[in-house]
Amino acid sequence: MGLTKIHTRSAIYLMSFKRLLQDTAGSLLVKQWKLIEKEDIVPIEDSMLPEVLRIQVDGFENGNEEKLIKYSKKSRNIFYVIKDKDKIVGYCVYYLKPVLSLKGFEKQSVISSIATDKNFRGKGFAERLLKGSIEEMKVNGITFIHLYVNVNNLPAIKLYEKTGFRIIKQVENICGQNEKCYEMGLRLA
Ligand SMILES: CC(C)(COP(=O)(O)OP(=O)(O)OC[C@H]1O[C@@H](n2cnc3c(N)ncnc32)[C@H](O)[C@@H]1OP(=O)(O)O)[C@@H](O)C(=O)NCCC(=O)NCCS
Repeated sequence: MGLTKIHTRSAIYLMSFKRLLQDTAGSLLVKQWKLIEKEDIVPIEDSMLPEVLRIQVDGFENGNEEKLIKYSKKSRNIFYVIKDKDKIVGYCVYYLKPVLSLKGFEKQSVISSIATDKNFRGKGFAERLLKGSIEEMKVNGITFIHLYVNVNNLPAIKLYEKTGFRIIKQVENICGQNEKCYEMGLRLA
């Protein structure tokens, strides 16, 4: 086997091992998650899933249903649903990303998906979802929140900037093939 092949294989094994470590540490953190009382914002329940999936399908051209279903089972505590009276009007789902640095383990998170019902947009629901979930992230020792947003998605970019996120850099092929998006971040500690 050539040296290049050995290097490529080692890199792939290392990346898979790193991902496995992050997933395991992430699952442990989610299990110990502290919930805070948030008016109208609750962790997802199975019965809410069809409505949440409908909002996702309406909000995204190529939403990933399977991913939402997986997170609703594995990461219930950080899958936030907002209601107006009893109606589900939006959701915001995170995953945890423990990062090993020279300072030790840093608990970071990533917003995987956020959307509000088309009939309830412009009423402050997404902003409340973000603010409520960010408060809970702080209580749980999360130091940094990441997200990726298409460069043309102005409503979302404005929303994130309003809640304190800043653009870190432009990246390609993360939001979709050949699509340009911004990596944005919010430091909490
Ligand atoms: C982006 C999205 C979640 C915003 O939800 P929303 O409930 O309408 O947002 P809010 O009413 O809480 O708005 C909060 C702030 O966001 C910004 N914003 C929201 N909609 C906007 C729009 N159409 N144009 C410009 N800014 C907008 C504004 O700064 C607004 O504050 P303001 O009302 O004081 O000006 C919603 O448009 C959506 O679901 N889009 C489809 C899914 C999506 O793109 N998700 C983001 C993927 S990265």
